[in-house]
Amino acid sequence: MIIDFKLPPEKPIGKATIPHHNHHDHQQQPAFIPCFRWPTRGTLLVSVTLAGCLLLATILLLLSVATSALHTLHTSLLQVPNITTFLHPDNNFLLLVDDGLNGRMVEFDGRSVGLDGQNIALDGRTVGRDGRTVGLDGLTVGPDGPDSQSVGRPRWTTERLARRLPQCIIIGARKSGTRALIEFLNLHPRIRKASDEIHFFDEEQNFQRGLDWYRRKMPFSYADQITIEKSPAYFITRYVPERIRAMNATIRLVIVVKDPVTRVISDYAQTLANRIKKGKHYLSFEDTVLTPDGAVDVSYKPIRVSLYHRHLEYWLRVFPRDQLLIVDGDRLVTDPVLELERVETFLGLEHRINASHFHFNATKGFFCIRDAQNDRVDRCLSKTKGRAHPDVPSDVMAKLRDFFRPHNERFFREIGRRFDW
Ligand SMILES: *[C@@H]1O[C@H](CO)[C@@H](O)[C@H](O)[C@H]1NC(C)=O
Ligand SMILES: *[C@@H]1O[C@H](CO)[C@@H](O)[C@H](O)[C@H]1NC(C)=O
Ligand SMILES: *[C@@H]1O[C@H](CO)[C@@H](O)[C@H](O)[C@H]1NC(C)=O
Ligand SMILES: *[C@@H]1O[C@H](CO)[C@@H](O)[C@H](O)[C@H]1NC(C)=O
Repeated sequence: MIIDFKLPPEKPIGKATIPHHNHHDHQQQPAFIPCFRWPTRGTLLVSVTLAGCLLLATILLLLSVATSALHTLHTSLLQVPNITTFLHPDNNFLLLVDDGLNGRMVEFDGRSVGLDGQNIALDGRTVGRDGRTVGLDGLTVGPDGPDSQSVGRPRWTTERLARRLPQCIIIGARKSGTRALIEFLNLHPRIRKASDEIHFFDEEQNFQRGLDWYRRKMPFSYADQITIEKSPAYFITRYVPERIRAMNATIRLVIVVKDPVTRVISDYAQTLANRIKKGKHYLSFEDTVLTPDGAVDVSYKPIRVSLYHRHLEYWLRVFPRDQLLIVDGDRLVTDPVLELERVETFLGLEHRINASHFHFNATKGFFCIRDAQNDRVDRCLSKTKGRAHPDVPSDVMAKLRDFFRPHNERFFREIGRRFDW
């Protein structure tokens, strides 16, 4: 009787199969019988072959598992989701590899890295946004992949980055220079700003999304950096102080204010520009701020926003005075460094922002952030900032000044500081 042990390659290993070609023999001779026979030379050879096949198959299986695991690792490292640049306190460049709430980063000496072979500007803002790849070996970064020749050799740092809840919020007031303030403060190496107005505490829909949602809106920062956001609507929204205290009772709050009359005019100018753009009907400034009988219209929202003492009262019921800093929005325009030094002190930071960071743009009439690498390009606030104001008749101005004077006095008493309005 011949028993053929040759295994068809696709059959599972480990089970001997009995060929079916000798149907007759098979019926007479049950399959288990060869097991009890003394192995002949032929069956020994077959067994050795079988063992060899088994070993080979196992090795192949292990190899394929290992290969696929490596491939997964390779892909996950290569498909770096978001890379942004970061400026470290010591002015080194970081490419941030963003995985949601936490990040890891690649650090450069700040000189030799660049997309398209260009150098990075020292402000750290012009590179890396579309950088899609980080070298698998963690050594090379560049636009054309892990082997990119155009970039320098970075140093990895082990410091952890995280999105953190703000330790300072610029709560208002609208049209008083909050954008300028947060952009200027962001020059400080120990300050990181959220880029948008988040409206977490004032907009119910956002608030219901919870603190984790809020945190995800924050920039990455180091443990020793201060995260700042600004949402000017907080200042005038009654339930916001309590909500912020519930998040952090020792948080520091900054309020930028400017001359309340100028602020009303800026507010009007912004609404006017929007209405004109949308082809909507609009009233003159005079008809907007005054009632038909010539009194100041306190139901006009920009007027109410400028009643600073009323809003501040609600904040002072919830937070001690020394947790609030009042910034002079008018001086922020004429002498930014002076006001910024006050904020640095308030935040317990050393003075790092100085005149070398600014350039007065005569065309615009205000200070722009100087580009450290290129003297001819300033980073100015958007063209809507410093928008032309309507000409306001002097009698309307006088009415507004008279109206605000007693309110201003109350505000000065509340804050223990006077302004020339
Ligand atoms: C990467 O950025 C995009 C756009 O800002 C965002 O939608 C996405 O969630 C980010 N991915 C990760 C992993 O954070
Ligand atoms: C609360 O704010 C203070 C002041 O900025 C800060 O030192 C502290 O770390 C904050 N606490 C939390 C939990 O964020
Ligand atoms: C201003 O700040 C820059 C950068 O922090 C520094 O290099 C420079 O020495 C400072 N200038 C003055 C006058 O302090
Ligand atoms: C000043 O601002 C104007 C208008 O935005 C701009 O065209 C000009 O380049 C700026 N000047 C400098 C020196 O940046």
